[in-house]
Amino acid sequence: MLLVQSFLFRRSARRIYGPSRPYTTGPPLAFVFDIDGVLLRGEDVFPQARRALDVLHGNNPWKSKIPFILMTNGGGVKESLRATLLSRQLGYEIRPDQYLQSHTVLRSLASDAEDPSRSKSDSHILVIGGVGDSVRDVAESYGFKNVHTSLDVLAWNPSIWPFHQLSDSELDSTRNTDFSSICVDSVFVFHDPRNWALDIQVMTDVIRSYPNSLGSYNRSVSNHGVDLHFTNPDLLWRAHYQVPRFGQGAFRQAFQAVFRAATGAEYPYIQYGKPSRLTYDYGTSMLKAQYLSQTSHPSKMFMVGDNPESDIAGANGAGWHSLLVETGVYDPSLGPPTHTPTAIVKDVEEAVYRAIEIANVK
Ligand code: G3P
Ligand code: MG
Repeated sequence: MLLVQSFLFRRSARRIYGPSRPYTTGPPLAFVFDIDGVLLRGEDVFPQARRALDVLHGNNPWKSKIPFILMTNGGGVKESLRATLLSRQLGYEIRPDQYLQSHTVLRSLASDAEDPSRSKSDSHILVIGGVGDSVRDVAESYGFKNVHTSLDVLAWNPSIWPFHQLSDSELDSTRNTDFSSICVDSVFVFHDPRNWALDIQVMTDVIRSYPNSLGSYNRSVSNHGVDLHFTNPDLLWRAHYQVPRFGQGAFRQAFQAVFRAATGAEYPYIQYGKPSRLTYDYGTSMLKAQYLSQTSHPSKMFMVGDNPESDIAGANGAGWHSLLVETGVYDPSLGPPTHTPTAIVKDVEEAVYRAIEIANVK
């Protein structure tokens, strides 16, 4: 019965939720939305995304806002900038405290309040990914003070990678640095690299030079003195092209394959981004901050994602409900997903209605 009633209820709600049943408490649910393949395809907004956000902004049985955040393995620019861009694209305000990207968790590494000795703010770090030095800006906004890019290294010594000449815009993004007098002790892959070959060469040089400056090569790298951080494990992601594209996870595979060929072993690394527990805990704390002022707290968390390996695996690991959409990486024609969601739905709008149904089951 409930199913039929709610189905009818849902269909009419697609336009306006009629005041059919009194709801005394606040919405018993909260949402975490993935971006690529759920809200956006490339730069295009799915029309279902705007309708789904309409429900979250009050067009729902509780006639009140349902807490939500956006959690993406994308990145490359400051949270505030991307939140502004997304607000314009989606037509609903997305505040910076509602937007979690792959490298946001690194904020806590720049200035470790609990253990300042672990703080990396004064370290010389190499940041990889994104266009020009956009990820340097992000790292500096997190509190890192000595941030270098692989383009800086190439500008310092063009023979470090003879197969690429810096374009004018790349050169403009560089900072004049004498790498013969500094030791880089951390590498952070913030976003999808634009020049895999250059970045693999410079990352390897930094790791093999430690604890000396660039250019002095250690035969063995057994000291593992350089911390290596990747922020997004996605092998594939859904962009504009009709089939998924290689992501930062594919770059990590390529780096490790070359590094193993050159040194005999892969290099240890720390992985952030969905499905890592750190990212889901960070998301939980961001959502909690939203509804702490509310009288009733959401009892059910719903992750809406298109990638079983990251979105669904992470949500299952965090004990959340997970809704897998068919508008992104996951292709139902290729068989069941590698990680089982609470439900598979057509798109983000269907996901929101399904979650309301599930949350309403007393
Ligand atoms: O580079 C971003 C991509 O890996 C996935 O982004 O929003 O689907 O987590 P998203
Ligand atoms: Mg996605």
